[in-house]
Amino acid sequence: MPKIIAFSGSPRKNGYTNTLIREILRGAETQGYDTKFYDLNAEGIRPCQGCNYCRTHDGCSVQDTLQPVYEEIHQAEAIILGSPIYFHEVTAQTKIWIDRMFSMIEFKDGKFVPRHSGKRIVTVYTQGYHDSAEYKNVIDSTNGILKGFGWNIIETLLCYNTSSPTFVLPPKLLKRAFDAGQSLAKSSE
Ligand SMILES: Cc1cc2nc3c(=O)[nH]c(=O)nc-3n(C[C@H](O)[C@H](O)[C@H](O)COP(=O)(O)O)c2cc1C
Repeated sequence: MPKIIAFSGSPRKNGYTNTLIREILRGAETQGYDTKFYDLNAEGIRPCQGCNYCRTHDGCSVQDTLQPVYEEIHQAEAIILGSPIYFHEVTAQTKIWIDRMFSMIEFKDGKFVPRHSGKRIVTVYTQGYHDSAEYKNVIDSTNGILKGFGWNIIETLLCYNTSSPTFVLPPKLLKRAFDAGQSLAKSSE
C-alpha cells in the first residue's frame, strides 16, 4: 500500500498543478516513501450518488476507479490534494472527489467525527489571476473540509498569475513543493 497518495483535480496532465504535485511526490520519494498518483480527470470516476451507504458503512457503494482509495487512505500516512481554480471554485473533478470522501466522517452523538484522522496533507492550488488573495475563501473552505476529516495540513502551496503570458513556475515554489514532500515523509520519523 502506498504511504502517500496524491489526487489531482487538474485536467491538464502537464499543467502547473500536476507539476507541483509531482515535485512534492519526488521530495517524498527521496525519503523512501511509496507514492501513488490519482488523476481525478480519469474516465470512470463517478460522482457521489447520495445513497447514504457511507452513513452506516466505512466506504462507498460506487464501484469505480476510486474504489481502492478508501482502503489506501486508511493505510496511508499522508495525502496530497491539488486543484486549479475554475470560476472561483475548485474544479468539478476536485469537487467530485471531495463528495466521494463523505465516508471520511460519520455522524455520532449529534456531530460529525472523523473515521480516518491523523493524516498529514499538503494542498496545492493554482489560479490564473494575479492577486494571490483573490480566492482565499475557496482555499480556506476547501482546507477546512480536509481539516474536518481530522487531517493536519502541513502546507498549502498557491501558484498564481498563471494567465500572464510571461508566467513561468517560480523556482522558489518548486523548491517549496519538493521540501513539502520531504517534510510530509519526515514528519513521521
Ligand atoms: C474553465 C476555466 C475557468 C477558470 N476560472 C478561473 C478563475 O475563476 N480564476 C482564476 O484565477 N483562474 C481561472 N482559470 C485559470 C486556471 O485556474 C489556471 O489556468 C490554472 O493555472 C490552471 O491550472 P493547471 O495548469 O494545473 O491546469 C480558469 C481556467 C479554466 C479553463
